[in-house]
Amino acid sequence: MTRTVAPFPAARFRRARRTPALRALTQENTLSPADLIWPLFVRDGKGVEEPVSSMPGVMRRSVDKIVEAAKQAHSLGIPAVCLFPYTDESLKTEDCAEAWNPDNLSNRATRAIKDAVPDIAVMTDVALDPYNSNGHDGFVEHGEIVNDRTVEALVKMTLAQAESGADIIGPSDMMDGRIGAMRGALESAGHHNVMILSYAAKYASSYYGPFRDAVGASGALQGDKKTYQMNPANSDEAMRLIQRDLSEGADMVMVKPGMPYLDICGRVKTEFGVPTYAYQVSGEYAMIEAAAQNGWIDGERVMMESLMCFKRAGCDGILSYFAPRVAQILANG
Ligand code: PBG
Repeated sequence: MTRTVAPFPAARFRRARRTPALRALTQENTLSPADLIWPLFVRDGKGVEEPVSSMPGVMRRSVDKIVEAAKQAHSLGIPAVCLFPYTDESLKTEDCAEAWNPDNLSNRATRAIKDAVPDIAVMTDVALDPYNSNGHDGFVEHGEIVNDRTVEALVKMTLAQAESGADIIGPSDMMDGRIGAMRGALESAGHHNVMILSYAAKYASSYYGPFRDAVGASGALQGDKKTYQMNPANSDEAMRLIQRDLSEGADMVMVKPGMPYLDICGRVKTEFGVPTYAYQVSGEYAMIEAAAQNGWIDGERVMMESLMCFKRAGCDGILSYFAPRVAQILANG
């Protein structure tokens, strides 16, 4: 694009910034509750809302409380929630069988939400880590996280989630070939309309720490996830992964983490023009909350700015633990 800018004083950019009305008129991007997906942590019990200490304001909720949260989200105009289970230690095994149990926490929560608030979209997580005694997203054999056997298990998980009524399947595991396998299985089982939002460019990031506390996987994790999640130094590789997952049947793609990876979000949107999402992850949330609690930043303003930046970078939506607070502020104008 050739850009012509008149020389000063013909061009004075401050004219457009002079009043709130003129700033509103010239604003390029907007943030709305419809841009948000709210991640929720599900735990056992009834009437339970248990705070996650490394994520102030975030709770692990029992299924009945998850339903209340979904109702709240719906009334605020948030179109989707995303479920992550906090699985009891006794159900974590090396064969991860709980992952495809039709009555596991995640599947029970999906059914309960779809019964009570059918209009909200439910997204579910596909990865073995909440069910694996060693904290990895795949099966471990002789110290190696094996790919193909893991994909078979992820397919079973996917089908159980689709049977429970999930609208969007969110594979966060980073195994190779999983999107094609999942899409094929969904088609064969008649789940033609189930969407896949692929965590296509998911980095081996240190920003996930508080999430691993929230799902109870921190203590268990042996080693790191660098053999399957991406190297934070890479950008072209992310484009190849996006292309690969789209070619295998992903409907939407995600970049994760969010704010430190806005360059990747921007590239995905401009190079592919597909529905692009970012995950503002637990560590990003925790940093903003911690600084705000210390009085070092204005937490509410930083929260709003951080989310607007995803829209400017080209994202169609954001998974954020701030979702209900942001939607509330937007509703109040
Ligand atoms: C694991 C998974 C992780 C997150 C979502 N799914 C953590 C990991 O890869 O170890 C992180 C989300 C967050 O930090 O908010 N399948």
